Amino acid sequence: MRVLLTGGAGYIGSHTALVLLEQGHDVVVVDDLSNGNRIALDRVEELTGRSVTFVQADLTNTTATRVTLANTNFDAVVHFAGLKAVGESVEQPVRYYRTNLASTLTLLDIMAERQINTLVFSSSATVYGEPQTPLVAETHHTGVGLTNPYGWSKYMNEQIITDAAVARPDMSVVLLRYFNPVGAHPSGRIGEDPAGIPNNLLPFIAQVAVGRRDKLSVFGDDYDTPDGTGVRDYIHVMDLAEGHVAALNYASCGVQTYNLGSGVGTSVLEAVRAFEAVSNRPVPYQISPRRSGDLATVVADPRLAQEKLKWQTTRTFADACRDAWNWQSQNPAGYGETVRVVIGSPAATVERTLDDKAISTR
Ligand code: UFG
Repeated sequence: MRVLLTGGAGYIGSHTALVLLEQGHDVVVVDDLSNGNRIALDRVEELTGRSVTFVQADLTNTTATRVTLANTNFDAVVHFAGLKAVGESVEQPVRYYRTNLASTLTLLDIMAERQINTLVFSSSATVYGEPQTPLVAETHHTGVGLTNPYGWSKYMNEQIITDAAVARPDMSVVLLRYFNPVGAHPSGRIGEDPAGIPNNLLPFIAQVAVGRRDKLSVFGDDYDTPDGTGVRDYIHVMDLAEGHVAALNYASCGVQTYNLGSGVGTSVLEAVRAFEAVSNRPVPYQISPRRSGDLATVVADPRLAQEKLKWQTTRTFADACRDAWNWQSQNPAGYGETVRVVIGSPAATVERTLDDKAISTR
């Protein structure tokens, strides 16, 4: 297959590109590089010895995307592109809806025009709202009690794509609901590189362990969970990437929906201890108030994907911590290159990484 990955220069996209290339598929990436990084794809090429076709385009601009992709062939699409910071989506709802919905509409138009039928969509366990069962299965209701525009945009995208597939019965759609992606490729060459202060637990812990941040805030220790801290289903990004390839292989006419999770819950304090064990570094933390919109426990029932896609996680949370640490310690500034910025006179320069932290001055 020649697979178009929207948002393929991002965290999950770059790992999926790698797995597809390793399995002999061709990969075309379309990304606006607003959050993804071209260096990630250079490293995917270096790791696989294969080349990626890269197209820079903003999918919210239908005309420009159509023109940019005019000479690029592909026969299936995995749609990762979108904004994903939950808190930011509350502050900038219109931007989130515009970006996350318009990009899907563009893609569906282009797929219809070019008679491309296979689509795998990057959805999220967030569509379940507050799970009503210990393990959440695909049959659980969706779109009830969602607390932020990011979550609603995932829910709305599922509906838009489903309606498009009803109107085009030759479409084969797989909606993948991710639980909490973590970890990195075991080489340490690609991994998660959040801009600014990480929102998610594992990148924050990794940055504390490497000395880039002082301490972790544990958001609440009074949840109804064994140690009082939030419990999540962390899934290794390489398992997640393999889940996409399984979905592409299994796609058939109509819409199918699968959880991609491990079925195992891990608390915030268990995550801290696991990371300390693999990194051999302390992860200082303080207990802080609950974060608004957070839930006590969200863990997948992963059986449907096991049964139908013949896919299941094979890596543990400890594996994910080890690989995240390998990535973080080899790339303390992520993909950020060190550049010299002249401040005031040419003699006074500050060396800083491309993200948020000045690393030395002279
Ligand atoms: N947490 C902390 N401190 C931090 C960050 C997180 O204690 O600095 C805690 C949270 O309270 C939660 C757990 O760590 O209990 C996991 O938090 P994350 O932010 O890593 O992940 P969430 O489960 O909140 O959200 C993730 C994705 C969303 C997605 C959601 C679906 O980030 O995109 O899962 O369930 F919508």
